[in-house]
Amino acid sequence: MSAPSRILVLGASSAMAQAYARRRAATGAAFLLVGLNAARLAAVAADLRACGAPSAEVATADLADPAGIGAHAAAFRARLGEPDEILIAYGELGDQAESERDLDAARRAFDVNFTSVALWTLALLKDRPPQAPLALVVIGSVAGDRGRASNFVYGAAKGGLDRFLEGLAQAYAATPVHIVTVKPGFVDSPMTDAIAKGPLFASPDAVGADIVRAVEKRRRVVYTPWFWWVIMTIIRHLPWFVFKRLKI
Ligand SMILES: NC(=O)c1ccc[n+]([C@@H]2O[C@H](COP(=O)([O-])OP(=O)(O)OC[C@H]3O[C@@H](n4cnc5c(N)ncnc54)[C@H](OP(=O)(O)O)[C@@H]3O)[C@@H](O)[C@H]2O)c1
Repeated sequence: MSAPSRILVLGASSAMAQAYARRRAATGAAFLLVGLNAARLAAVAADLRACGAPSAEVATADLADPAGIGAHAAAFRARLGEPDEILIAYGELGDQAESERDLDAARRAFDVNFTSVALWTLALLKDRPPQAPLALVVIGSVAGDRGRASNFVYGAAKGGLDRFLEGLAQAYAATPVHIVTVKPGFVDSPMTDAIAKGPLFASPDAVGADIVRAVEKRRRVVYTPWFWWVIMTIIRHLPWFVFKRLKI
């Protein structure tokens, strides 16, 4: 695949998004970086220009707010030109106990991690020129592979996203739109600051490298690092009488 020239990144200050974008910047890609915090986005843009990006512009938006998605999507496409790559990286781990106590917190977790992401993909795919190639890369999570007591609100949102992208990918299979679902395991990023790190944690840079490979090889789904495919295959297939006893 030839190097993409225009990349739209939603959630551009995410550690994984930055690691991925640096590698793309080195191939000469131009960026529109979208996120919540203007100062953080400006720092990411400066870094990408230093890595080789001919341009890296920024736009602030609450990406989880469904009301703004249609208008923002049109404005971003007009500003960047039709992107040949879109990375949707934003997300929030949330607090499972709080989501069980407080319906607003649960709704927020679903909106950030599922509803808004699905709406962004629909808005960005709508009215595209049918022959225009696109890699649409969305960061999900291994947490979506099986509902677990410790994080089933976040897990359900990522699981719903997984099903949504699977159907979307089938719908676009005969077109130049390639959809990649990225399923990281534990990654040492700001999202996991509060979690004690262990040997299963990967660096954002390792994830960035895996995403580059997945896009280049036109993978449909990528577990990153790869061994999470093995772990999740086992977890998915555990019989209920075993699974229900696990503290995971
Ligand atoms: N870290 C892990 O272990 C792990 C594992 C599996 C999957 N994931 C997924 O990987 C993706 C990237 O996460 P990361 O690990 O790179 O974490 P991160 O560095 O904390 O990035 C999360 C990003 O999401 C942005 N964000 C959250 N809500 C937003 C909103 N409403 N509008 C705009 N931006 C918003 C944050 O912006 P601000 O910083 O400005 O708030 C931040 O840049 C997420 O989808 C996450 O669910 C992470």
